[in-house]
Amino acid sequence: MPGLIPKQVLEDIRFRCDIADVIDSYITLPQKGTIVKTLCPFHKEKTPSFNVNRQRQIFHCFGCGAGGDVFKFVMLYENLDFMGAVRLLAERAGVVLEFAAGGGPSPDKELLLDIHEKVAARYHRYLLKSPDAQVARDYLAQRQLTGDIAETFLIGYAPDSWDTLIRWARNEKIPVDKLELAGLVVRKEDGGSNPYYDRFRARIMFPIRNEQGRIIGFSGRTMIKDHKGAKYVNSPETPLFHKSHILYALDRARREIVDKREAIVCEGQIDVIRCHQAGFTTAVASQGTAFTEDHARILKRYADGVVLVFDSDDAGRSAAIKTSGVFMQAGMAVRVAALPPGEDPDSLILKHGAAAFQKALDEATSALDYQIAVLCEQDDIRTEAGLLRVSKAVLGSISLSPNAVQRDLLVQQAGLRLGLSPAALQSELRPMIKVRPNIRQEETVAPSPVAPRPRDEMLLAEHLAASPELVEHVMEYLPPVLITDPQCRALVQSLAVSRTTGTDLMAVIAERDDTEQSLATFAAAALSAPTRSGTELSHREAVQDLILALWRVELQRRRLAIGASPERLQAGREEYHMLTTDLRKLRSWETGKDVARLYAQSMPGA
Ligand code: CTP
Ligand code: MN
Repeated sequence: MPGLIPKQVLEDIRFRCDIADVIDSYITLPQKGTIVKTLCPFHKEKTPSFNVNRQRQIFHCFGCGAGGDVFKFVMLYENLDFMGAVRLLAERAGVVLEFAAGGGPSPDKELLLDIHEKVAARYHRYLLKSPDAQVARDYLAQRQLTGDIAETFLIGYAPDSWDTLIRWARNEKIPVDKLELAGLVVRKEDGGSNPYYDRFRARIMFPIRNEQGRIIGFSGRTMIKDHKGAKYVNSPETPLFHKSHILYALDRARREIVDKREAIVCEGQIDVIRCHQAGFTTAVASQGTAFTEDHARILKRYADGVVLVFDSDDAGRSAAIKTSGVFMQAGMAVRVAALPPGEDPDSLILKHGAAAFQKALDEATSALDYQIAVLCEQDDIRTEAGLLRVSKAVLGSISLSPNAVQRDLLVQQAGLRLGLSPAALQSELRPMIKVRPNIRQEETVAPSPVAPRPRDEMLLAEHLAASPELVEHVMEYLPPVLITDPQCRALVQSLAVSRTTGTDLMAVIAERDDTEQSLATFAAAALSAPTRSGTELSHREAVQDLILALWRVELQRRRLAIGASPERLQAGREEYHMLTTDLRKLRSWETGKDVARLYAQSMPGA
């Protein structure tokens, strides 16, 4: 399937990237061993059903059906396409990818990532070393953002100059138009002999990393109190940086979020940095924009719920209610923490310590209670009109939840708080629930991506996965066309190729897989299936039974076709009777195996 990358290179990467090591670097695996079981990173569960098989180099989750080889894992975890996964693993393995012109990855993106990495290091070095940066060092010292935490978040300083980066790029032989593409310099309206200037000047610089930890943009804070211009200047939209997709510090927080199942969501990056410094390592923030459906979707991969810790002012309160809706709409549980007036997470932790922040988190109420409390401050629910307004607003929020169970729970809660019957609220709610085709309706059970397949074919695939030496046996008696399910058929054929060529099965599969690598997922499921336990003998007997069963289906189909019309039956009476006799023989391996072989040989392509 991959096409662009030579098979040999793919095999090289596969060989060097042990699946258990790769997965371990994302979600710490509990033990070493051939088969390791842990909590699935792709769906929420309380008991582990995620298996990593070191011997077969596959992973498979019995809960949600996710599975495949090392490439597929990286695709799922990093949200990459196949090429993206190949590139990432190649880098990890130190394999150089060379691409023919025209195809492959965008060379610009790689260059832009490289530029960001270098610029961040440069800003950081300025901050630490440059005499001109004393003002920045003083500022950060006063805000207690020095030492390890400044190192960890690679805080830097952009000097008070119009052309620091431009001169640097000239030295580094980086074309200035690439800096412009990276959003680091701005082109002047009137051009002139120096048509560009640095975007970030005299600002404290916070590199922004994507989920994989690569730097893709910057946020720069002025050090001047009551600055006339913007307090923060952020990178513009670039090929790397998409504001509505970025959660600050998610690269550091995500593993912890998977463990804790709840993310702390703040408004500002300094809040997030302070949280991490104080040990609240599940904290993230959006990048100076309102939270979007995309943010919620990204967090939902890791968390069941969020606790919002926004500034405790009017803007913060209404942002909390609005953001609650966004996360509820994604089917997440939402809590809101109330901070003392005038505080944000940063100031609270600095003034009152981590314990005070922990207390605020512990006391966080459900988004619904929070909304009711805020609304009741503005409206009097002892009056009928006030109660109507408040309940309408509350129902509006509840209607956003795509999950009927969650809606029901919320209705009960709202009924209690407002002194209304759940039945009344429920009937008001019903017409407010819109079908939103763009949002997947929540399912109570994790959906299995595996469509129902003919059971016998599935079993055959599983037994063969367990005892691949039986595949020759199958090829002798059963032509692959009789396996109707395309993936079962492809797996059996791949097993045969793997046997005859001595190539690793997952490598054979990768060759013929689609862009989604769905055959790899299917194969991992078959290889992990519990039917695997058994002796070779019991597998052989099971496989023989399945061969007979599949032939019976085929012969019944043929017989039915003949019996379908009187004319056909007239002409095919003899064949009809032969099929009946053969069907009887196909009841046991002793009498059926020769029948099966003869029919197999008479099939086209045999
Ligand atoms: N923000 C922004 N552009 C602005 C102001 C704010 O992008 N002009 C974003 C920043 O990401 C900032 C967040 O909104 O972190 C929250 O803003 P604010 O509460 O004003 O800043 P703090 O994070 O509290 O920063 P500080 O403590 O330094 O004032
Ligand atoms: Mn602040």
